[in-house]
Amino acid sequence: MIRLDKFLCDYGIGTRSQVKEFIKKGQIQVNDQVVKKPDFKLVEEKDSVFYQGKELAYQSFYYYMLHKPMGVITATEDKREKTVMDLMGSDRKKNLFPVGRLDKDTEGLLLITDNGELAHQLLSPKKNVPKTYYVETAEAISEEMITMLTQGVDIGEKEATKPALVEILTPTSLHLTITEGKFHQVKRMLKAVNNKVTYLKRISMGELVLDPSLEKGQFRRLTEEEIGSLEKYIQR
Ligand code: URA
Repeated sequence: MIRLDKFLCDYGIGTRSQVKEFIKKGQIQVNDQVVKKPDFKLVEEKDSVFYQGKELAYQSFYYYMLHKPMGVITATEDKREKTVMDLMGSDRKKNLFPVGRLDKDTEGLLLITDNGELAHQLLSPKKNVPKTYYVETAEAISEEMITMLTQGVDIGEKEATKPALVEILTPTSLHLTITEGKFHQVKRMLKAVNNKVTYLKRISMGELVLDPSLEKGQFRRLTEEEIGSLEKYIQR
């Protein structure tokens, strides 16, 4: 059982106060009845919920975006360290796991789901899912460094990295978009061009963009639209 206002919030319809307004205005129907009480309890798997006459399909998988803060590790559990799953509070469920890995000192967008197939596809090198990072560097970024990053650099793997997209923001910050996810890849790429990452934050993955209203450590369920933008990677 879940409260109606929490269900709508989780679904991505709006903030807690916005959904309370929608409920009070009679815009929410559960099965064949308009429900005006935010604390109405429903059974997600059984009850049909309508917003402005449109049914909100039951989501069989869970999808969250987490604004990962520094200092927590990307793992489901750890004996010593705090993990990203420890941030999920009462939404922490047994089968949820983070898709891909951000280093302990990296911040930003982390997708958390229980959809293994989607995770597998998003992480597959064949799918070329773009991931954009905001990067701060120790040294000014030279033209030569930009050329090297965009062409691909030797980070000690069998092959050079795939070409990256570079958008210079200030002399020591950039947006770097890569389509691979090798261990410490961004840090190793900047090292390969004789620079050093001093701050790293992932801001997008595919079309999924870190919600600017999420404070570090906060999370929210993905909207239907956001889920759709990810699921297309399964169909390709
Ligand atoms: N590249 C890195 O070096 N670290 C991350 O956490 C993500 C990408």
